[in-house]
Parts: sequence; C-alpha cells; structure tokens
Amino acid sequence: MDFQKRILVTGGAGFIGSHVVRLFVNKYPHYKIINLDKLTYAGNLANLKDLENSPNYEFTKVDIVDAEAVQEAFEKFQITDVIHLAAESHVDRSITNPTEFVMTNVIGTVNLLNSAKFYWKDAMEGKRFYHVSTDEVYGSLGNEGMFEETTAYDPHSPYSASKASSDHFVRAYHDTFGLPMVISNCSNNYGSFQFPEKLIPLFIHNIQNKKALPVYGKGENVRDWLWVEDHARAIDVIFHQAKTGSTYNIGGHNEWKNIDLIKVLCKIMDKKLGRAAGESEELISYVKDRAGHDLRYAIDSSKLQRDLGWKPSLQFEEGLEKTVDWYLTNTEWLNNVTSGDYKKYYENQYTKR
Ligand code: NAD
Ligand code: DAU
Repeated sequence: MDFQKRILVTGGAGFIGSHVVRLFVNKYPHYKIINLDKLTYAGNLANLKDLENSPNYEFTKVDIVDAEAVQEAFEKFQITDVIHLAAESHVDRSITNPTEFVMTNVIGTVNLLNSAKFYWKDAMEGKRFYHVSTDEVYGSLGNEGMFEETTAYDPHSPYSASKASSDHFVRAYHDTFGLPMVISNCSNNYGSFQFPEKLIPLFIHNIQNKKALPVYGKGENVRDWLWVEDHARAIDVIFHQAKTGSTYNIGGHNEWKNIDLIKVLCKIMDKKLGRAAGESEELISYVKDRAGHDLRYAIDSSKLQRDLGWKPSLQFEEGLEKTVDWYLTNTEWLNNVTSGDYKKYYENQYTKR
C-alpha cells in the first residue's frame, strides 16, 4: 500500500508513546506508523499488543544513540515525519545516572536531527520533526504565575537539563538548517501503561500491596496533571495544524499539591478495594526530599486552546478513578513490569536513605 505519510514515532513502546502510536494507527490508516524504540526498562511492547496485526504499524528495535542505526531506519522506512518521544524520563534516575540522560536525550535527539536533515535534504517541504518535551525545562514556580511558551528556560535536574538541551538543538536545526520542526512542552501525565516508578502508578501499586507510600519532603510540591490520552490528542492536533517553528504548552489547568492528590488516591483505593475509610492513608511515610526538587509546575495552555481548539476532555477525579480501575484490572501487566530490573531500582531508591 502507498502510504500518505511514513511517521517515525520514537519511544512508542513507552507510556505516552504507546498512546500516540495507538491514536495514529487507528485514526490514520493511510499513514504508516513506525515505532522505533530501544526497549529500555520503560519500553514494553505489551503496551501495544492490540496493534500487532495492524497493516499500518511496524516496530523496529533501535537505540537512538546509535547514529548509523537511526540513519538506516530513515532510509529503510523512507521516513517523511518524526514524532520524537524516546527519552530517559524519570527525574530520580537522572540524579543517580546523569550521563545516560545526556546520551539518550541530547545525543539521541541530535542523531535524529542529523538523519532528518540528511535524508530530507532539499525536500523539507511538507515534512515535520515534532519534538515532545516537558514543562520541567522552565524550572520551578513560586506560589504565583504559570509557564508560558516565552518563559525563560531554567532547568534544575539532570533530566530537565537534558530535555532543555534537546529543545535548544531542535530550534537550532530549524534556525540554521531550515529543519521543519515543532515543539510541545507538557505537564505531568497520568493514565494507563505508565511505568510504576512515577508517583501515581507507584502509589496505586503500593496501596494495593499495603506497602509504604514514600512522600518526598512534606508533600507540598505542586504538579499540573493531564490525562495521557488528552496529551496524545494535543500531539495529533499540533502535528497536523501548528505552524513550522512554533512551540505549544500543553497542560490540564489542574494543579495538585502532592499530599492532597495522594489523599484523594487513598480514598479512591479504599473504596475500590473494600477497605475501611482512612486505611490506605496510614501507609503514608514522609521520606528524604528529592535533591533539587522543583516546588511547583503550572502550565498556561491558552495558546493551544485558542489557536488550535484543543482542550482537556476529562476532569481529574474521573481520570484518576479510570486510571485506578485500569491498574487494578491489568494486574498481569503490573506484575510483569515490577519484576526484574525494577525491583533492584526500587530497593536502591527507597532503602538507602
Ligand atoms: P517513558 O520512560 O515511559 O518511555 C520512554 C520510551 O523511550 C521507552 O519506550 C524507552 O524504551 C524509549 N527509549 C529510551 N531510551 C531510548 C533510546 N536510547 N533509544 C530508543 N528508545 C529509547 O517516557 P514517557 O513518560 O512516555 O515520556 C515520553 C516523552 O514525553 C519523553 O520525551 C518525556 O520527556 C516527555 N514528557 C513526559 C511527561 C510525563 O509526564 N511522563 C510529561 C511531559 C513530557
Ligand atoms: O512535568 C512533566 C514531567 O513529569 C515529565 O517531564 C517527567 O518525565 C515525569 O516523570 C514527571 O516528572 P515528576 O518528577 O514531576 O514526576 P514524578 O511522578 O516522579 O513525581 C511527581 C511528584 O511526586 C514530584 O513532586 C515528586 C513526588 N514523588 C515522586 C515519587 C516517585 C514523591 O513524593 N514520591 C515518590 O516516590
């Protein structure tokens, strides 16, 4: 079949990537979606089991740090567009091993940019390099204000520094070589298929197993939560409609202090598991704070809402309940990803303090 576009989605076996791949494969049968992923601890093809036999979907196992392999993928699949999500994504891991974040997030991104520049050469028209980034590049807010697209970058963790660096490279390739790029910076995502090292799935898993809930510091840090499927929808809209060279913030206007969110989650879990009211809250255990812990993130997504008509579809409490239901139903998925490597990570992260 002659496909209208052949889109390379990097990191498609991860949390957000798998939702983006699913949305595009199902919604655009006239596009071929090539999921390029190294399958690190966070990449899991079980996230895309339902697409295995789709005629417009293909998986290729490639490490984006390997420049030659990236170039080969461009040639083999005749890539017309890129949606780049592959990254080391967990802040705590970036504190333990910053270099890995530089390799994947910076060098890996530059390898993709070089391949796009080389392969698309003088035929940049109609192509798109979409770089998926984070609100963490903007740093930390006090009690007031929101991140806008024009907010100066001020990253604090090795993770956010590596993402900021990759954003700068993407813009530099646009300004220097005319590479047709767009960037979006999104707030915290939650939903199905999220690796249980991140706050919400980790705490669901721990509550279910009556394990301690390790709250960093006093639990007063604020995050702005967005349902992952709303992020995928925003990526779809930006991919198709944004002007080349533009940046969009994506967020849910949904700020929660960690401790308040955790208490709501405990209440939902008590109800779902038939436990006495307040039982799960007793698992809360205040632990040493994350180093360089950003106090507050809040995204102003009015540009996206105004220009491209996107808005979040789900209220947080509804989304959180749906998410809890998903993890409680998909116990096999959760057990598979919490075995092996993750167990070692967990012991190091929470018992050596
Ligand atoms: P994730 O950790 O769940 O998935 C990352 C994916 O990238 C995995 O499938 C992994 O195997 C793959 N990968 C890692 N290193 C690779 C390499 N060297 N070569 C090829 N593939 C590699 O991450 P996520 O939470 O889905 O985040 C996806 C993207 O969205 C990241 O770029 C992240 O910075 C960004 N983002 C995430 C959030 C969030 O809340 N999770 C919010 C805003 C932006
Ligand atoms: O803002 C977007 C970012 O959101 C993404 O770019 C990152 O990839 C993603 O991991 C996420 O970063 P956070 O550091 O905000 O997410 P995390 O789930 O790790 O933590 C959320 C908050 O909860 C944060 O304030 C730290 C706190 N926390 C986290 C863990 C894992 C705890 O208190 N205890 C924990 O065990």
